[in-house]
Amino acid sequence: MSTSKKEYKKITTKSLVEMKKNGEKIAMLTAYDYTMAKILDNAGIDILLVGDSASNVMAGHMTTLPITLDQMIYHASSVIRAINRCLVVVDLPFGSYQGNSRSALDSAIRIMKESGGHSVKLEGGSEIRESISRILTAGIPVMGHLGLTPQSIYKFGSFTVRAKEEEEAQKLKEDALLLEELGCFALVLEKVPAKLAKEVAESISIPVIGIGAGNGVDGQVLVTHDMLGMTHQFHPRFLRRYLDLYSEMSNAFENYITDVKSVDFPNENEQY
Ligand code: KIV
Repeated sequence: MSTSKKEYKKITTKSLVEMKKNGEKIAMLTAYDYTMAKILDNAGIDILLVGDSASNVMAGHMTTLPITLDQMIYHASSVIRAINRCLVVVDLPFGSYQGNSRSALDSAIRIMKESGGHSVKLEGGSEIRESISRILTAGIPVMGHLGLTPQSIYKFGSFTVRAKEEEEAQKLKEDALLLEELGCFALVLEKVPAKLAKEVAESISIPVIGIGAGNGVDGQVLVTHDMLGMTHQFHPRFLRRYLDLYSEMSNAFENYITDVKSVDFPNENEQY
């Protein structure tokens, strides 16, 4: 395994598989709007996920279930207008692909046509194999998502670590192999034991991107607002905060309010 880092002008699904082969870790974060996507792309992020976590982060819902296909397309098209280098993956929202493979394909086509996204992500394994196959047949790249799949939160009952028991771990391993066999270009593994995630990553040739899945996988993803410390009430063990933006922004807003109220802002140089 080489550790030399190849420069990529543009990240494609092929580059990601190559990065795995070369032992280069893949960095992925979420984005839902133009301004954030521009900063992330310029910083050199490999993949931007227009996640259905927009339902929580942008709209304030408790779960990812309420967000609609139209809303995902709106977020994705804003992100696409900002980027030059990274690959953009767009979540198919709850209800837009589970019904049957025809509706799954229609949803994926709408994402690709109306947002300009580069690929879609679906949650689940063997239960949705027909939907994945049909979308792939249309030439649309698919990223899988196994482990804690937030669209099934009411089935799980909580956000605790998945696949700790042998039966669920076995099904997850089989699903990962199936996703590779169907032709997915990568998959996300969310909140599963690090040992299992490493085993899965070593058993398939497509990249495995982890969130709460340890460092034995091929890349990492976090929700950008969480790693920036904007969502300060959310403290899962897997989350590393790179900033405390909640405090920093609160300070800035408080200072602005004080300045406006005390007529300190605008001063003579800040007017015409
Ligand atoms: O929607 C999302 O942000 C996701 C990540 C947690 C992987 O699916």
